[in-house]
Amino acid sequence: MNIRGGLRPAAAAIALLVAAGVISFAGCARSRGAKPAIKIGFLVKQPEEPWFQNEWRFAQECADKYHFTLVKIGAVDGEKVLSAIDNLAAQGAQGFIICTPDVRLGPAIVAKAKARDLKLFSVDDRFMGADGNFMDVPYMGIAAREIGRGVGRALWDEMQRRGWKTQETGACAITFDELYTAQERTEGASEALTAAGFPKDHIYEAHQKTTDVPGAFDAANTVLTQHGSVKKWLAFGLNDEAVLGAVRAMEGRGISAANSIGVGIGGDTGVVDFRKPKPTGFYATMLINPRRHGYETADYMYRWIKDGIAPPKVTLTGATLVTRKTYAKIMREQGRL
Ligand code: GLA
Repeated sequence: MNIRGGLRPAAAAIALLVAAGVISFAGCARSRGAKPAIKIGFLVKQPEEPWFQNEWRFAQECADKYHFTLVKIGAVDGEKVLSAIDNLAAQGAQGFIICTPDVRLGPAIVAKAKARDLKLFSVDDRFMGADGNFMDVPYMGIAAREIGRGVGRALWDEMQRRGWKTQETGACAITFDELYTAQERTEGASEALTAAGFPKDHIYEAHQKTTDVPGAFDAANTVLTQHGSVKKWLAFGLNDEAVLGAVRAMEGRGISAANSIGVGIGGDTGVVDFRKPKPTGFYATMLINPRRHGYETADYMYRWIKDGIAPPKVTLTGATLVTRKTYAKIMREQGRL
């Protein structure tokens, strides 16, 4: 190199090569250090149910905020779940959140996620192991028994307000005991009712085959047929759909809104009845929070993948009682309307 600047041709060539080497080395280092784009699956058992659509909606909000890809999959049976997991792995996802169509699929889902090296978070319905115990998989669900008790108390309070006598009143309990969270909800409601003074033998249980409005409608019709002489009815179940099914069955038998009190759990599906011009037997619901179950679970998964921060083992969320009169105000306060 001379003082006037410039390089001799050979030195210049070497300098260029070195520069190129440095550049390509830096490029290499960059691509080696960069983490692959984050992709997270969100599998739900009943994609047609507003609760799950809202979970997806809020999970998407989280994905938009942090710029990761959310893959939403409706997985209505075991076969769909297992193929969806394979599919996610093939697409380069690093983890998924799931509300399983059957809690007994837990061991198969855990094994598949492990084999495919995917992180796993369960929401709403908690995995059950072969031994009948909950599995050690991070979980977010509702505080089911306590919320069920809230349902029972609301039914009792409204019954008192209307001046109904316990002897003339029946309670239609739509049950789905295959699902522990459902069992806890309906048991909680029965517990609170009987603790308040409602006769246990006036609680008539009806098992629903499917956890949707038609499933509950069929179950309720069986109870209403068996107890045709009862004219005043309470109704409860695992979610809004269960109570709506019971209320529709009552309407079909001429049991009016004045003679029926249904209290749901949800606030997504049941709100449709609150918006009808005339009150229906769907009197109230325990408003639960799809934002927490969608956004927060996605956030936990994102941080787990990105920063290696494992989510809490169990998160239980609460509920607020809303009626036709109060739902709009409360939902607005929660930023949901
Ligand atoms: C279950 C029910 C849903 C909803 C969620 C809430 O999955 O089937 O309707 O109530 O719990 O966690």
